[in-house]
Amino acid sequence: MRATNFAVRALLALVLALLLPAAWAGVPNNRAQPAYAEEQTIMQAEQGSRAPEPGLASGESGRVHIDRHFLGQYGATEGDVILQRGGNTWRVLRNGPIGTTAGTLFVLALVGIGLFYLAVGTARQQHPDSGRKIVRFSNWDRLVHWATAISFLLLAFTGLIILFGKVVLRPWMGAQVFSALAYLSKYVHNFFGPLFILCSLVMFFTFLRRNFFNRLDWQWFREGGGIVSHKHVRAGFFNAGEKAWFWLGITLLGLVMSITGLILDFTNMGQTRYILQVANYFHIGGATLYIIAAMGHIYIGTIGTEGAYHAMRYGTVDEEWARQHHEAWYDQVKAGGAPPVPPDGGRMPPPSTRPGAAT
Ligand code: HEM
Repeated sequence: MRATNFAVRALLALVLALLLPAAWAGVPNNRAQPAYAEEQTIMQAEQGSRAPEPGLASGESGRVHIDRHFLGQYGATEGDVILQRGGNTWRVLRNGPIGTTAGTLFVLALVGIGLFYLAVGTARQQHPDSGRKIVRFSNWDRLVHWATAISFLLLAFTGLIILFGKVVLRPWMGAQVFSALAYLSKYVHNFFGPLFILCSLVMFFTFLRRNFFNRLDWQWFREGGGIVSHKHVRAGFFNAGEKAWFWLGITLLGLVMSITGLILDFTNMGQTRYILQVANYFHIGGATLYIIAAMGHIYIGTIGTEGAYHAMRYGTVDEEWARQHHEAWYDQVKAGGAPPVPPDGGRMPPPSTRPGAAT
């Protein structure tokens, strides 16, 4: 129990350290213009009660502003805070510039992927299948991948409903139906969040060894992976683009989403409303980047690269596919070097319909 408390406090301390720059920006500004009439009233109410500004050099300063945000020092808990002006700031920012930027980026990403597909098209296999299959992903690999992917998709869809539903869905589905959907989304999101963290952790350790960078990867980056030119570029089990997705997406953004998500999910850990508001900004920012990166990943893994989805669906690939996309790994397998995949095999795929493919 003490260890758990310590871990939770250590986690909160880490997040606080990350949020300090934002806290700095949140220091009250006496010249701030109130965004709403009610905010005007709040500012007036604060006039008499606000603790004197201790100045940023004082240790009290950060505490007062982080914990009480505009309201001065009231005591050890937030129980006696009646009005928190930061709530209004949060609402204005979330429903305004943050929501608008996130929404614009999603639309741009969708349009960008569509245009890329039209301009460059699917990366096709250049030579016919050899008819010899090799195992690429074990049953465990695929179980972990799909559990993480499905929980991610559920979080992404429900999160987007929570964030944009009021503007995008309610006008045409009506308040009653939207209310039920928003309610369901909130609960699905709250419960799948911790499950997604667990899946991400297992995924991290399952795929870690195959994602360390090596010399070939720099070459791959220099050639842009041959993605646009459809040029052949040598790669190991995972190419450098896949490794970047592993480290920046699954690991880094996974951490941001997990830490901020836990802060938002378990509100009984002593965090103040200000912490929840800042965690929410980071959660939306992280979600935007993660969802856009996932769109790219899903595109490349399905219509972007012939045969890639098949590998994750059934676990096996044709030798010719392996040679074209992951030649260094293919050479290693052919040379009898143990592939870094537990040899529990993959499910037998249906016969290929590609012309020239042996079955
Ligand atoms: C990577 C996957 C995730 C994505 C894409 C995502 C996305 C989102 C989005 C877009 C929102 C709406 C923010 C708003 O409307 O202000 C949200 C809210 C939230 N998220 Fe996530 N999230 C993810 C992971 C998690 C995790 C792992 C947890 C918990 C452990 C979590 C817990 C929450 C909570 C508690 C809320 C507030 C829900 C409410 O308004 O009641 N999320 N998420």
